[in-house]
Amino acid sequence: MDYEGKVAVVTGGAGGIGRGLVHALLTRGARVVVADVEAPALSDAVDQLASRGTVRGVRTDVADPGSVEALAENVYTTEGRCDLLFANAGVTSGGGGLPWEQEINDWRWCFSVNVFGVAQTVLTFLPRMLAAGTPGEIVATSSGDGGVAPVPYASVYASSKAAVSCFIEAVAHQLRTVGALVGAHVFYPGGGLLDTGLWTAGRNRPAELERVRPRPPAPGTTFPEFKAQLEAAGLPADIVDLDWLGTTVLEHLDEGRYILGPGSERFAPLLHARADAIAKGELPPTLLH
Ligand SMILES: NC(=O)c1ccc[n+]([C@@H]2O[C@H](COP(=O)([O-])OP(=O)(O)OC[C@H]3O[C@@H](n4cnc5c(N)ncnc54)[C@H](O)[C@@H]3O)[C@@H](O)[C@H]2O)c1
Repeated sequence: MDYEGKVAVVTGGAGGIGRGLVHALLTRGARVVVADVEAPALSDAVDQLASRGTVRGVRTDVADPGSVEALAENVYTTEGRCDLLFANAGVTSGGGGLPWEQEINDWRWCFSVNVFGVAQTVLTFLPRMLAAGTPGEIVATSSGDGGVAPVPYASVYASSKAAVSCFIEAVAHQLRTVGALVGAHVFYPGGGLLDTGLWTAGRNRPAELERVRPRPPAPGTTFPEFKAQLEAAGLPADIVDLDWLGTTVLEHLDEGRYILGPGSERFAPLLHARADAIAKGELPPTLLH
């Protein structure tokens, strides 16, 4: 796709990986609408990226269907189109830990953003994109954690990302079946250690979904501990340049790939081992094996 003059919407684009996507899209000449729940970060990001192209922010809570509908109305009224949709906003479940020590509010918050937020974003924009009758792409940010195999201490987050990957795979198949001009893709961020705001995702956690029994981060769930685990598992642990990551995603879209993001080839041995274990009725290996 020639991005010049195209309109892109990036949820969760005010920081981290989403901001890298916005940077890459602006560099390629797209007009970008950044949708994010964190108002100060959103206005800072738009101010800082304005020199790179046409970008504006619309405060949006993807967990709120009315907010996503208002975003779509805003985009179609003001821009008249949406060619590229990045359903990227995501949170953790608040620190992870033993699955049976997570609370139902951890599930509610994580799924409200990661699963219902992605579903709502796709359900709101995709019919409009199809009705436009022009080529388009939707990209959902999943995670190798859940999309490929779970990290056991991140059971809630992994479950949410497994849902994202499964949903988008179904969407992509159905779009092909009906011969749509719009494609769907899953993005697995990777290439090393991603030093983003995900580690402090609780800053955007709604008060009504706080834990009933607050506790410090569970062992193994802090950024330094995660880095140590990657190194121990022989996985890449250098800090990734997030603008490079965004550029790589667009290059993979150019190549017509379904799976976007660097390093997906390294999943192959693990997925083969998982398939073998499942076929034998055994517990499959995790992402950190
Ligand atoms: N950082 C990693 O290691 C990693 C790895 C794989 C996948 N991911 C995924 O990448 C995506 C981006 O995460 P990140 O690592 O850049 O974290 P981040 O916290 O830096 O960025 C997430 C953005 O989403 C926004 N957001 C949170 N809740 C929202 C809501 N309800 N509505 C709208 N916006 C909301 C935040 O304000 C933030 O700007 C997420 O889906 C995450 O699960 C991250």
